Amino acid sequence: MKVRKAVIPAAGLGTRFLPATKAMPKEMLPIINKPTIQFIVEEAIQSGIEDILIVTGRSKRPIEDHFDANDELEAVLEAKGKQELLNTIKDLNSINLFFKRQSYPKGLGHAVLQAKNFIGDEPFVVMLGDDLMMDTVPLTKQLINNYNETHASTLAVMPVPRQDTSKYGVIDPEREYKKGVYNVRRFVEKPAPEVAPSNLAIIGRYLLTPEIFDLLETQPAGAGNEIQLTDAIDRLNKIQRVFALEFNGHRYDVGNKMGYMETIIEYGLSLPELREDLIDFIKATVKERL
Ligand code: G1P
Repeated sequence: MKVRKAVIPAAGLGTRFLPATKAMPKEMLPIINKPTIQFIVEEAIQSGIEDILIVTGRSKRPIEDHFDANDELEAVLEAKGKQELLNTIKDLNSINLFFKRQSYPKGLGHAVLQAKNFIGDEPFVVMLGDDLMMDTVPLTKQLINNYNETHASTLAVMPVPRQDTSKYGVIDPEREYKKGVYNVRRFVEKPAPEVAPSNLAIIGRYLLTPEIFDLLETQPAGAGNEIQLTDAIDRLNKIQRVFALEFNGHRYDVGNKMGYMETIIEYGLSLPELREDLIDFIKATVKERL
């Protein structure tokens, strides 16, 4: 079955970015001129996804507005002949986006469960908004390719420093199914470094079969007293194969301040209109301060 649908959980409180996120969703924090969630939506589209459900919480209305048409703004840009800018906002209107409120945030597993009726009986992807991924083939597309070959759930993983395992879901890899794709013995949410089965962390892109929903419905709270997607995936792996695909591209964790800064600088360097001035600025700043 073709993978057509994506779920983007966006109900988190964004406490790391207070006060910026007091009234604005963290998913709307811009990387220069583009909100972080738009990078995720673009990755979905580039991977062939047609319908996207964004699971939102309180004060998330700006996300809905961002992906809605803005007649007034379009008319002004049209009248001023600003075609290029007009295209950047019009391109967004053609996406099939759906929204669901998660009234009581009880963890990532609970957020994904909100998508049960939207997904129905199809394989789907989950894309977390804190991780921006850059690679020649979009990571979500890589997961879909593995699904097309195996018809099995597949999660993206990446090595992280040992001391960081307690921030992630971590896998216990078994043998390689093929280069860079592992069979997995166990999926463990946020293990302490001493007990982590490896340093391969789950990095915010999941391709899941719909059987996950029955498991999420009966999933007791786990780490942090939250209903954990990782725990339900560990149970899924006992009834059908779940693969882990190692990501070799670049990952930007925009969920913390340093990762957010790095992303802004890298993105700035990729924009022709900023690149040279930014390099000059960085060189001059380093020289002055060090
Ligand atoms: C979530 C998942 C975790 C995963 C991480 C990736 O954790 O529960 O398994 O490794 O995202 O960013 P969170 O960052 O929401 O605590």
